[in-house]
Amino acid sequence: MRQTLVMGNWKLNGSKTLVEELITALKAPAAEASKVAVAVCPPVLFLGQAQELLADSAIALGAQDADVHTQGAFTGENSPAMYGEFGVQYVLVGHSERRTLHGESDAVVAAKFAAIQQAGLVPVLCIGETLEQFEANETQAVVERQLQAVIDQHGIQSLADAVIAYEPVWAIGTGKTATPEIAQNVHAAIRAFLAQQDANVAAGVQILYGGSVKGASAAGLFAMEDIDGALVGGAALQADEFAAIIKAGA
Ligand code: G3P
Repeated sequence: MRQTLVMGNWKLNGSKTLVEELITALKAPAAEASKVAVAVCPPVLFLGQAQELLADSAIALGAQDADVHTQGAFTGENSPAMYGEFGVQYVLVGHSERRTLHGESDAVVAAKFAAIQQAGLVPVLCIGETLEQFEANETQAVVERQLQAVIDQHGIQSLADAVIAYEPVWAIGTGKTATPEIAQNVHAAIRAFLAQQDANVAAGVQILYGGSVKGASAAGLFAMEDIDGALVGGAALQADEFAAIIKAGA
């Protein structure tokens, strides 16, 4: 049975005050929903403060990206190996905003995926189609291409120690949440695609949905067989909204 995982991707938002207020407000709802795994991914500059605030909580800490180098003459990079010093457990990789705004190719995403795992962390592999691709009925081809790029580099077994987040780009930040049925169809097709290569990996990997998840839409999504949680953006910055999403998974 796959555990429900609710992750907050704070993107480029936060302040020392917000980090303290938000994490403090989430501790009780996360503790009450003991069957739900909860994680927050603040901007990298707040990982130290978040680590301290989370010391007495089961809420896990995540980072939003990582570079491939562990140390050395790589000015400005963030080493996955150094994230461990801040108690980071998850690292998002291949988020559509990295793929589009920073030109991250499937090959770059696959290399980052491996560097994250080599550092002993859990990559959250973000995949999803654009509106144009959705309207052209290319969704399955796109997500399979994005998944296969990692499998080709690191093998299907590498997904056993990873999380997948399906985020239709057309639903990110738009308020247009995919219906539970649309999301479930894609999640089931992703799991079936993986099962062709390894049935155990396919059955065990958590596949999160991301794209305008709110407290009101979470329960319908989580009721779907192949939706194992949510990767939440805007609603993660509102304690009550994020708490409602966590509660929906309990
Ligand atoms: O990574 C999660 C994010 O892309 C979803 O954003 O604001 O649509 O929940 P949002």
